[in-house]
Amino acid sequence: MNLHSSHFGKNFLWGVAMAAAQNEGAYNIDGRGLSIWDVFARKQGKIKGGDKPYEACDFYYRYKDDLMLVKALGFKVFRFSISWSRVLPDGIGRVNKEGIAFYHKLIDECLQLGLIPFVTLYHWDLPQALEKEGGWASHQLLKWFTRFVTLCTEEFGNKVKHWIVLNEPMGFTSLGYMLGKHAPGKTGLDNFFPAIHNAAMAQAEGGRIVRDIVNKAYVGTTFSCSEVLPFSDKKEDIQAANRMDILLNRLFIEPTLGRNYPHDGFVLMDKLHLHVKAWKYTDRLKFNFDFIGMQNYFCLTVKHNPIIPYVQASEVKAATRKVPHTALGWEINANSFYRMLKRYWLYGGVKEIIVSENGACFKDELKNGVVNDEARINYFQQYLTAMHKAQQEGVNVKGYLAWTLTDNFEWNEGYKARFGLVHVDFKTQLRTIKNSGYWWRDFLAK
Ligand code: BGC
Repeated sequence: MNLHSSHFGKNFLWGVAMAAAQNEGAYNIDGRGLSIWDVFARKQGKIKGGDKPYEACDFYYRYKDDLMLVKALGFKVFRFSISWSRVLPDGIGRVNKEGIAFYHKLIDECLQLGLIPFVTLYHWDLPQALEKEGGWASHQLLKWFTRFVTLCTEEFGNKVKHWIVLNEPMGFTSLGYMLGKHAPGKTGLDNFFPAIHNAAMAQAEGGRIVRDIVNKAYVGTTFSCSEVLPFSDKKEDIQAANRMDILLNRLFIEPTLGRNYPHDGFVLMDKLHLHVKAWKYTDRLKFNFDFIGMQNYFCLTVKHNPIIPYVQASEVKAATRKVPHTALGWEINANSFYRMLKRYWLYGGVKEIIVSENGACFKDELKNGVVNDEARINYFQQYLTAMHKAQQEGVNVKGYLAWTLTDNFEWNEGYKARFGLVHVDFKTQLRTIKNSGYWWRDFLAK
């Protein structure tokens, strides 16, 4: 069958997603405070090529043009995030009117073009002022986050109905507060455990605030997920895969669904439970979101490795196993995406699923004004076919947001890792629609 957008139903939400820290730039303009990424990028060796997020895609100035591209490609939904330090430069307290004005203009422009603004409240860019006080590892976090979410929903809630509370809590807590690979570059369980619990609390609390303040809100939060397969059928490998699965796929969705943090004989989880008990604020982890945002980029094959602390598992890379992978080495496996969709659906308690991010990084080349990114087109075809199969089999998937509109600042990978449907020349900011962008236009055409 030649897959077409209409096969997914009339009201299916097709969109693109991006994030403030990856696209906006204008990092010190119009009263914006610094975010943890602005500061982290200054540290030697943290970001490939020494790249900085200061200008990014210059979206702050070019948002009108970029929204025209979204429209031209035929998408209905535009997902973006609000930079906390643009609206609250110190994280709490003083509101930056110019920052608020920017998001009003952006939202108004979406509405004028007939695009649905889909707002992420937190996409990884904590104000540096709050990081100085401990950031996500501080037990003050919930208070700060409440202030931020209340401000945003009171300001924009009469125009915006579609809300995402957190982007991938597993991503920013593990990379930023355990492994030190992302901002703020912290490591160790003393940071990781409180960050986990504060993020899990914040996602539920954020959901409650949105529902209270925004009339007719459609509110969800997102989870990264990656199927974890054992390298062999040896018991140690199967157990290693299980531990990794708890961390990657269960740690944040289960408390939201009212099942508390997973256990399953994993020592690290036992420790987490002990800490959480001592902190005594566990009762509000659950929230009945209207939808769950699922984000899927790869699946993992792991084997037992006693050297790795706690998880005692390490990845057997896709390249080593000679299976298809992207330029970042991420395994391309649409069947595993299909299985994750089914699995999250079968949890029970999930009302609707939006695939809030999916996409791939390839070594794109701009030649004579053309980017012929066949590999990306293939990727989308496979993943959309997998999603269609899941939908046909009863998974209530209501939307799909491609990652991402333009090439952008890919966190610690810098600007060389390109995920966009639109190529960006970061010297001139010139945009060129890639062939995958044109493919989407045809796929979405009436
Ligand atoms: C994040 C995006 C990121 C993408 C590709 C997701 O985990 O939400 O911000 O660019 O993955 O790495």
